[in-house]
Amino acid sequence: MLAQSFALCALLLQPILGIDLDTSDSSSICDATSLIQGGIMDYYAGTRIGGTVGMFQQPYYWWEAGEVFGGMLENWFLCQNDTYHDIIYDAMIHQAGPDYDFMPSNQSMVEGNDDQGVWGLTVMSAAERNFTNPTEDGVPGWLAMAQGVFNTMWMRWDSEHCGGGVRWQIFTWNSGYNYKNTVSNACMFQLAARLGRYTGNDTYLTKAETVWDWLVDVGFVVLNENGNANVYDGANIDDNCTDIVKNEWSYNQGIVLGGAAYMYNATQNDTSVWKSRLDQIVGGSTEFFFKDKVMYESTCQDSKTCNQDQRSFKSIFSRMLSLTRSLAPYTAETIDPLMEASAEGAAKSCTGGTDGHTCGLNWQLGYHDGYYGLGEQACALEGIQSLMYSKRPAPYTSDNGGSSVGDTEAALNSTSTNVLQSDIKITHKDKVGASIITAVILAVLVGGSIWMIF
Ligand SMILES: *[C@@H]1O[C@H](CO)[C@@H](O)[C@H](O)[C@H]1NC(C)=O
Ligand SMILES: *[C@@H]1O[C@H](CO)[C@@H](O)[C@H](O)[C@H]1NC(C)=O
Ligand SMILES: *[C@@H]1O[C@H](CO)[C@@H](O)[C@H](O)[C@H]1NC(C)=O
Ligand SMILES: *[C@@H]1O[C@H](CO)[C@@H](O)[C@H](O)[C@H]1NC(C)=O
Ligand SMILES: *[C@@H]1O[C@H](CO)[C@@H](O)[C@H](O)[C@H]1NC(C)=O
Ligand SMILES: *[C@@H]1O[C@H](CO)[C@@H](O)[C@H](O)[C@H]1NC(C)=O
Ligand SMILES: *[C@@H]1O[C@H](CO)[C@@H](O)[C@H](O)[C@H]1NC(C)=O
Ligand SMILES: *[C@@H]1O[C@H](CO)[C@@H](O)[C@H](O)[C@H]1NC(C)=O
Repeated sequence: MLAQSFALCALLLQPILGIDLDTSDSSSICDATSLIQGGIMDYYAGTRIGGTVGMFQQPYYWWEAGEVFGGMLENWFLCQNDTYHDIIYDAMIHQAGPDYDFMPSNQSMVEGNDDQGVWGLTVMSAAERNFTNPTEDGVPGWLAMAQGVFNTMWMRWDSEHCGGGVRWQIFTWNSGYNYKNTVSNACMFQLAARLGRYTGNDTYLTKAETVWDWLVDVGFVVLNENGNANVYDGANIDDNCTDIVKNEWSYNQGIVLGGAAYMYNATQNDTSVWKSRLDQIVGGSTEFFFKDKVMYESTCQDSKTCNQDQRSFKSIFSRMLSLTRSLAPYTAETIDPLMEASAEGAAKSCTGGTDGHTCGLNWQLGYHDGYYGLGEQACALEGIQSLMYSKRPAPYTSDNGGSSVGDTEAALNSTSTNVLQSDIKITHKDKVGASIITAVILAVLVGGSIWMIF
């Protein structure tokens, strides 16, 4: 009797082990993502004393919060569950900064165009998913915020070096200022494509074309011998971007992919140009980032060298593949089987930690690989919720469900707009600190390619 009650107690106290996933059942998918979001919240600083709303605890950078809230906002829409609604809403408002363009001055030591761009994609989703509009006095609509991000980024277009593009860094004192990278430009490309599709204003689509053309001209997006597109990381302006860092990251591939899918969908009267581009990038996505149908971060995962940022990349890559299958329905027959196998692999990686359902990095093993963190949780969230995109509407536009208020002039007068000329007061000590931070990031970035050569 006693032994039996002990056994019963032990059973009741046991954590939920692993994540059961029936890939065809919405409530099973959304139950799985509930557990995973619980794990994400373990890292959230905004509900803790002394924590900042919209930020995760160290060592997670500001940009990764933008990425994670982008995934959670999608979950809100896909699973129609309001549990984290207020947290997502508050995070976007708090991190938008005084000019609502995602340039909060307290991030100027670390903020690059890519960081601002990733938050821009998240706030654009808020418009496209008809997320609750801001009601506070003086707070603009999500659409206006996305336009503010785009407008400020577009003003940094630099034709003087490498024939165009924006640099990685916004601020001259951050090292990496001389590096032009794909992700910054890809965010701008995608944002323009989404603004064009959402508002129906062709000016944005023309600008998206300009960014795309540059990415191809400079050689960051190139066709390989299989007819698929490789997406490389970036290059330094000192040699006019000729010495390209050829690391391939799933988030670069994904953000370029998503942009092309939006362009394809937005150019409804003649999709042929964008269809062939989209096909090439879908081809590259499946060629480089899937093994045995399961997604992986090919540049660092098997060598076990992924850093914190890189451990989150499959999250935004999953989202972009999912959006692509919604916006270009003909791609679903390619993408869906891959995402189904990946979602299953992701769920099987979630057997770690004291809670028994902490997710790992490697989705190909069928068990938890010992890695854990915000990136692993975010990847599993978006990998698994990708199964919901076939069951819910595609991103809305202003014509068919979106109600967000825009402002084509947003942030054009903001204090942060022309930071290259502005004299924001930064002490020497801060500058040195910032250089060290970005130097370390750059070392890891470039180190990755050296690693591959050896
Ligand atoms: C909504 O999400 C919460 C937490 O993630 C979960 O506990 C709850 O069961 C979900 N509601 C429904 C209806 O699935
Ligand atoms: C940084 O700035 C944002 C936006 O202005 C603000 O919401 C946040 O509290 C600040 N963070 C810290 C750590 O002070
Ligand atoms: C720099 O690169 C761009 C883009 O590839 C090219 O158009 C331009 O002619 C190059 N400039 C010089 C000075 O080589
Ligand atoms: C497609 O529509 C756009 C704008 O509505 C127009 O500028 C373009 O010429 C059209 N293309 C074709 C092939 O009809
Ligand atoms: C654009 O996306 C919508 C929503 O999924 C879809 O119905 C439509 O067919 C897409 N357009 C094209 C050209 O595929
Ligand atoms: C979008 O939100 C507005 C304002 O809350 C609402 O009136 C409208 O019905 C929503 N549209 C959809 C498609 O849910
Ligand atoms: C379209 O967008 C451009 C660029 O932001 C803006 O200048 C223009 O006024 C917009 N056109 C309309 C009709 O809203
Ligand atoms: C921006 O500044 C100009 C000139 O100072 C002014 O005319 C315009 O109304 C301002 N726009 C906004 C959106 O504040």
